[in-house]
Amino acid sequence: MNLFDRTLLVVAGKGGVGRTTVAAGLALAAAEKGKRVLLCQTKSKERLSTLFATRPVGTDLVRVRERLWAVNMTPQTALREYGAMVLHSEFVAKQVLENKVSRAFLKAVPGIEDYSMLGKVWYHTTETEEGGRPRWDLVILDGPATGHLVTMLEVPMSILDAVPEGPLTRPAAATLKLLRDPARAAMVIVTLAEDLPSNEAIELERKQSQTVKMPLGPLVVNQLYPPRFVTGPSARAVESLPEVVGDPELQPLVIAAHTAQRRRALNDRYLDRLRRDLPLPQIHLPYLFSPGFGPAELEELARRLDAQLGALAAAT
Ligand SMILES: Nc1ncnc2c1ncn2[C@@H]1O[C@H](COP(=O)(O)OP(=O)(O)O)[C@@H](O)[C@H]1O
Ligand SMILES: [Mg+2]
Repeated sequence: MNLFDRTLLVVAGKGGVGRTTVAAGLALAAAEKGKRVLLCQTKSKERLSTLFATRPVGTDLVRVRERLWAVNMTPQTALREYGAMVLHSEFVAKQVLENKVSRAFLKAVPGIEDYSMLGKVWYHTTETEEGGRPRWDLVILDGPATGHLVTMLEVPMSILDAVPEGPLTRPAAATLKLLRDPARAAMVIVTLAEDLPSNEAIELERKQSQTVKMPLGPLVVNQLYPPRFVTGPSARAVESLPEVVGDPELQPLVIAAHTAQRRRALNDRYLDRLRRDLPLPQIHLPYLFSPGFGPAELEELARRLDAQLGALAAAT
């Protein structure tokens, strides 16, 4: 089954590994396959407008490509929309949620801020158009970094434990059911083939598999250095080169070759470690050495994601 045939993808990983970039790449690839896609961010630093070359993406949905929309949620706006959904009227929700007493009450519900955003994401997966067909084929959550994301995904469980009956119960149960349904949802962990990000990816899976229990999609390993001088004659040649060659014109080349070889060797070690400790199919994305990161770079990554996801789906 192709990843894009799910309803919800949660993109996870350590801060800075490229979660937003990969979430946007997946969204673009899915939209190009004909899916109607909503990319949801949670109080993110605004970067999507650079990636898609569009106007800034805020708390209202922005169309960034054909069939592809994006939104950057905040707890305040999400809570109101979520409240409107639960209470069936924007007007009532505003009255209730902006009332001092209910604000104080909501503040006392642990995780309500995270929950409002997760609830909004869930709500979008259930939204229908006139005629009853779903408004979105695929919703992608570019969530907060590792620890915070797990906390966010755990809120429905806490709500169900704490308040078995109430206005939040039904949506919390539906959200948890969605998160755990392998036919509808998958977590896509993004990492680098380096020490700290790999550890965090392994740890994230260990934690979430004990509580949230989301099914996992492939592991996306981002920013891999090119496999230069890794095998064959060129590898042996670089290995046999001394660090200092005594020729000032050759010296920079020798340093560059050694560095390239070591970086990729480091990547390869962590790819093996990940295969062992986080046994998932891997998708490899290269480090793109371009001066900026905009639509061209995003399209390049989207193409690679699509090709590798296609190969994985064909192999299973
Ligand atoms: N494959 C890549 N090649 C080069 N630069 C990348 C790549 N992926 C991400 N980046 C850069 O890394 C930085 C962090 O990416 P971002 O997607 O914002 O990470 P996160 O959402 O995990 O914090 C950005 O400046 C982005 O342009
Ligand atoms: Mg980000």
